[in-house]
Amino acid sequence: MSDQTESKIRLSAVEKRFTSARGDQQCAVSRLDLEIRSGEFVCLVGPSGCGKSTLINLMAGFEKPTSGSVTIDGKPVTAPDPDHIMIFQDYGLYPWRTVLGNVLFGLQARKVPAILAKEKALAALELVGLLPSRDKLPHELSGGMKQRVSIARALAVEPSVLFMDEPFGALDAFTRLHLQDELLRIWSEKQPTVVFVTHDLDEAITLGEKVVLMAPNPGRIQRVMEVKLPYPRERTDSNFAAFRKELFEEFHLVHRQAINPEYTI
Ligand SMILES: Nc1ncnc2c1ncn2[C@@H]1O[C@H](COP(=O)(O)OP(=O)(O)OP(=O)(O)O)[C@@H](O)[C@H]1O
Ligand SMILES: [Mg+2]
Repeated sequence: MSDQTESKIRLSAVEKRFTSARGDQQCAVSRLDLEIRSGEFVCLVGPSGCGKSTLINLMAGFEKPTSGSVTIDGKPVTAPDPDHIMIFQDYGLYPWRTVLGNVLFGLQARKVPAILAKEKALAALELVGLLPSRDKLPHELSGGMKQRVSIARALAVEPSVLFMDEPFGALDAFTRLHLQDELLRIWSEKQPTVVFVTHDLDEAITLGEKVVLMAPNPGRIQRVMEVKLPYPRERTDSNFAAFRKELFEEFHLVHRQAINPEYTI
């Protein structure tokens, strides 16, 4: 859907090594190159431990590469940036603040004048369908509603990039499908660049213009799949099934190779 072609995020020969408590080196991401266009929706998938969170944390500035470079808008990423927001699986809401109070938080932290901040917060809550719940406290909400508050809080500050690490992982299937549709609607309206980590291959094909399949040991890109299907995508459609089959087959191969490096189809 994105029609802008300029590069937003660029990773060049990125490597990230961790040293364990015993002193062993672990290569979480190895010499990885990736380019993400402005306004693009990119999903990262791959087996557990293949480096998805490491990669998104490198892009969001929570981790620094051991070597190689990560740039956004041509500038090296050295720390988290208020224009690039991360949405986590555990919502990260303040339990003592109301729904509106939580959404106001980021705006207040940016010293947005009170009247304007309230306007923006209410608009963001309307976007996620939570205006009627604005005076509730987080413990009065369902998991899906909490996640919508955290999305509204992120959107209120109008970020140019949304990083999402398995944001819907803890939700039931119905809520998850609903939030996928909501997220796509918001993305088409606001056009942020979105990097979305998921374990769910169907979710990746529903959402991503591009699906990046990663392989482990060391964490690397196995395949970048362009999902050339119009939005909204029909999950029961035969074209959807064709992308699904291709991705599942490749995922299966990656998984088998992770267990047995000699494995080929
Ligand atoms: N802070 C850390 N210290 C040491 N090793 C780490 C650290 N963070 C990640 N790793 C290691 O790097 C590798 C990649 O981890 P990462 O969390 O990025 O995987 P993932 O693909 O997000 O997995 P999952 O799907 O289970 O969330 C793993 O082997 C992990 O043990
Ligand atoms: Mg992870």
